[in-house]
Amino acid sequence: MTFYDTNIYYIIMILLFSNQKGGVGKSTLAALYANHLANGDENAGVMPRQVQFIEADMQRSLSSQREEDIASWGEDNIKYNLDFCYIKDYDTSVKLMQQLREFNEQNPEVTIIIDAPGNITQDYLAPLFIYSDYIVCPYSYQNIVLDSTSGFIRVIEYIKSTRSEMTAQFIFIPNRVVKGVGINQEIENFQKIEEIFKSKGYLAPRIYNRVDLARFNTVFNTPRQERECEKCFAFIDNIVLQENNI
Ligand SMILES: Nc1ncnc2c1ncn2[C@@H]1O[C@H](COP(=O)(O)OP(=O)(O)OP(=O)(O)O)[C@@H](O)[C@H]1O
Ligand SMILES: [Mg+2]
Repeated sequence: MTFYDTNIYYIIMILLFSNQKGGVGKSTLAALYANHLANGDENAGVMPRQVQFIEADMQRSLSSQREEDIASWGEDNIKYNLDFCYIKDYDTSVKLMQQLREFNEQNPEVTIIIDAPGNITQDYLAPLFIYSDYIVCPYSYQNIVLDSTSGFIRVIEYIKSTRSEMTAQFIFIPNRVVKGVGINQEIENFQKIEEIFKSKGYLAPRIYNRVDLARFNTVFNTPRQERECEKCFAFIDNIVLQENNI
């Protein structure tokens, strides 16, 4: 669905950060990307964009971070809403996505970012995938993570095969990459896996394992954090903004 506003048009945009594997960086990267969009980049001529963040993860780690951030930085410096939503069954899951779609129809300039719950194998979470535009999937180069991520892809592809209205595309992010680690055999395997991921969706540039990225807030990124995520986020911006013809 498109909305016209003089010569700019927007398409409904919901980015769901998800992977069934825990601890891959979903919440961290979702928050860093939201900060990145909401603040823009004056030097690079990138305009700030409106963001609505939904934390759908029971751990509420981002909601608690936001409370701390309001105390530290003050309400006035908060650039986007961050709301918590407890998804307990199919009804709450469908309702959340319907509300977000309606919200986005009325506010097409707002990018919606969802930090998905970890227990994605629950059937009642299917609407999150069905009604999102992109499934942003961080993973790391460890066999256990790669196996789990492959399983996740299969689940999503299965849902997609049963629901014609589902158009979501994958954006994979290699996260917590450690330079120069891995024997040749492993590196070859990882390259094969990258090829598979590329055939399933977009493969974003890597994000390295950095202490700077582990310590983030929900207001702004430090110049170092922006630099560490620069290529990856520019890649995602390109996909999202290009589709929106902005
Ligand atoms: N690029 C990175 N460099 C260093 N640390 C990172 C990076 N990405 C994530 N982390 C750290 O990895 C841990 C897991 O990250 P995070 O909580 O974002 O993952 P998650 O996928 O949301 O986990 P969960 O499944 O528990 O919700 C955290 O301690 C976080 O600080
Ligand atoms: Mg999380």
